[in-house]
Amino acid sequence: MKASVYFTGREVEGSVLQDHTAVVIDVLRASSTIVAALAAGAQAIYPVLSIEDAIKLATSLGRKDALVAGERRGLKIEGFDLGNSPGEFTPDTVGGKQVVMSTTNGTGAVLAAAQAEQVVIASFLNLDAVVGEVAQAGQLAVVCAGREGQFSIEDALCAGMLLARLAERSENSPALDDAGRAVVALAKAFKMNAKFLAETAAGRALAAIGLEEDVAWCARLDAHDLVPLLEERMIRRSDGGGA
Ligand code: MLT
Repeated sequence: MKASVYFTGREVEGSVLQDHTAVVIDVLRASSTIVAALAAGAQAIYPVLSIEDAIKLATSLGRKDALVAGERRGLKIEGFDLGNSPGEFTPDTVGGKQVVMSTTNGTGAVLAAAQAEQVVIASFLNLDAVVGEVAQAGQLAVVCAGREGQFSIEDALCAGMLLARLAERSENSPALDDAGRAVVALAKAFKMNAKFLAETAAGRALAAIGLEEDVAWCARLDAHDLVPLLEERMIRRSDGGGA
C-alpha cells in the first residue's frame, strides 16, 4: 500500500485520486455527523457545496422524506431542519430519511475526493471499521478537511491513528509520504480524548458558540462499527444497514 495525506480538501486535485481509495476526515464535525446520521438510520446523506444547492436538491427529492442539514460559522443554517451537531441526528429526526448536507469544510472535502475509485468517510467514531474497509487498498489517499483552508490537528491526528493501525496489521503495511510520516508521528505524540479535542482551534470555536458537547461526542473512539461510502453522490452505509 502507498499512502498519501492531504491536510486540506483544497489540496486535492480530483484527477490524482482516480485509482485511489480515498478516506475523508472532518472530525469536528462533518464526518462525525455523517456517521451519527447513518447510525441513527438515515437512508443516505447527499453532500453539497452551497445552501442553494441543498435546498434545490431536497426539494427535488421531496421535502417529506428529505431533510436539509448543515452549518455556517458552526451554527445551523436558517431554514434548515438540522445543524451539524451529531447529537441532533437520532432515529426520530433522521430515521429512514434522506439528508442533504452542506457544511463549511467537510462536504467540500468529500466532493473534492469524489473522483477516487472508492470514497470512505472516517472519524474517531468509526476508525476501526474504516481500517478494516481500506486494509487491502493499493493506493490510499487520506484527505483531511482542515478548517477554512488551514491545517486541523484533530483531522491530522485521526489520519495518523488510521495509518498507525494499518501499519500494525501484518499485511499490506502503508509506505508513507512525508505528510503520512508527520501524522503518524503526531499519533505517537498525542493521546486522543475529549480534552485533546476541546483544546483544538475547532474545539475552542465550537465551545465559544455553546456547542462544547459536540466535541465530547466526536471523541468517542470506535463508538460505531459502520463504514460510510460515497457512491453516485450519495453517502450510504457499506453494509446497507440502517432504515
Ligand atoms: C464542517 O465542515 O463540518 C466544519 O468543519 C465545522 C462545523 O461543523 O462547524
